[in-house]
Amino acid sequence: MPDTLTIIDNRTGKQYEVPILYGTYPLYGAAIRTTDLRQIGVSGEDFGLLGYDPAFTNTASCKSRITFIDGERGILRYCGYPIEELAEKSSFLEVAYLVLHGELPTQKELDGWSWNVIHHSFVHENIKKFMDGFRYDAHPMGILISTVAALSTFYPESKDIRNQQGRREQIYRLIAKMPTIAALAFRHTMGYPYTYPDNDLSYCGNFLNMMFKMTELRYTPDPVLEKALDILFILHADHEQNCSTSAMRGVGSSLPDPYVSVAAATAGLYGPLHGGANEQVLRMLQEIGSVDRIPGYIRQVKEGVFRLMGFGHRLYKNYDPRARILREMTHKVLERTGSSPLLDIAMELERIALEDEYFITRLLYPNVDFYSGIIYQAMGFPVDMFPVLFAIPRTAGWLAQWSEMLDDTEQKIARPRQVYIGPDTRPYLPIDRR
Ligand code: ACO
Repeated sequence: MPDTLTIIDNRTGKQYEVPILYGTYPLYGAAIRTTDLRQIGVSGEDFGLLGYDPAFTNTASCKSRITFIDGERGILRYCGYPIEELAEKSSFLEVAYLVLHGELPTQKELDGWSWNVIHHSFVHENIKKFMDGFRYDAHPMGILISTVAALSTFYPESKDIRNQQGRREQIYRLIAKMPTIAALAFRHTMGYPYTYPDNDLSYCGNFLNMMFKMTELRYTPDPVLEKALDILFILHADHEQNCSTSAMRGVGSSLPDPYVSVAAATAGLYGPLHGGANEQVLRMLQEIGSVDRIPGYIRQVKEGVFRLMGFGHRLYKNYDPRARILREMTHKVLERTGSSPLLDIAMELERIALEDEYFITRLLYPNVDFYSGIIYQAMGFPVDMFPVLFAIPRTAGWLAQWSEMLDDTEQKIARPRQVYIGPDTRPYLPIDRR
């Protein structure tokens, strides 16, 4: 059986052979190069056929070794390792190393990697002054986006993206400084004094320290919450070519420094249909307020008044595997922090939605954001911080995807085509004749 596609253009009767290319799984992700369609035309002057695919629902923009998702079967793997196993056995820094290097680290590699990340966690003192310029009620995601972009001006050498040693340095910095900037953004909006990193703590322990340390001389993170945050970070480390990652690759393809590309990716994450969804889920649960109001709320969702936040996914047409892990974890965290009335509403909402014809026929299941907000709130994070908590671990994935793109000789500056549907040439009319 030849690995080609035969296309007959009924306009001309001409026949074309187009090769099919495969990834790791021949039955998942077989593709044709849409540039092979350019030879198909009616006449010699014809531009040739384009692929038309609004929102890239069926177009691969790259080959990648990082993340595999089978949305039909609810499978997520980083570099071949199932997410469930990584969440159970690994740590976030180990997983960050994995997505960036393609292999799990040896103990020595992990020690070196962790040391480097932990020892880049301080930010320049001017960053604090820069942050002081934001209003007291500034959304921390807006502060994060702007401040990460500002880092570009502190590290001008980061423009040399082909320098592998320099690239490694920026990767350490970005993974290390995102939690610091996130915590500073939170403390700015609260009016709290800024807390410096404690390099003796773990990545997540230090983040909790920078967020919540008050008058104690030394902050000791609660081990249950520290572990829960680490697992949440593992689950959010990468998710292949979504809106924010495409922004990272798209902006990165014009070869700016990685700080501005991460700022662009963070902006992509901010919207309510992507990383802003967990914030919206919490607001939705608060708005519903009690279990008896759920049926009325679901009715309005079905009438199209609004969407059920935390439900549905472009790829998962099954239970999001990350949501399954988080559902379990919610109970563990709440055992520690005390119960939340929002959990009862969430569980009942999920039960009703999963039995409802509207959600069943559209294959709408809970996604990662459905439970993460409840956990974050129980841990003491304000709702505004939820998308920020998503951006911190996703930085590892963005950088892995960016680095992979830079080393991929097939990649160029991203430049999608369009199908022009505007007017044909027409004469210019002076303003008094329009
Ligand atoms: N609530 C109600 N109906 C929904 C929902 C929802 N959450 N999601 C999709 N639908 C319906 C749509 O109305 C549409 O119905 P129709 O065929 O009658 O018009 C159908 O399901 C298909 O929806 P699309 O918008 O075409 O699906 P798409 O794949 O483009 O959207 C998305 C995916 C954006 C995630 C969507 O499901 C959504 O808006 N969900 C709520 C927001 C959310 O939770 N986002 C987080 C995603 S996970 C992440 O980013 C980490």
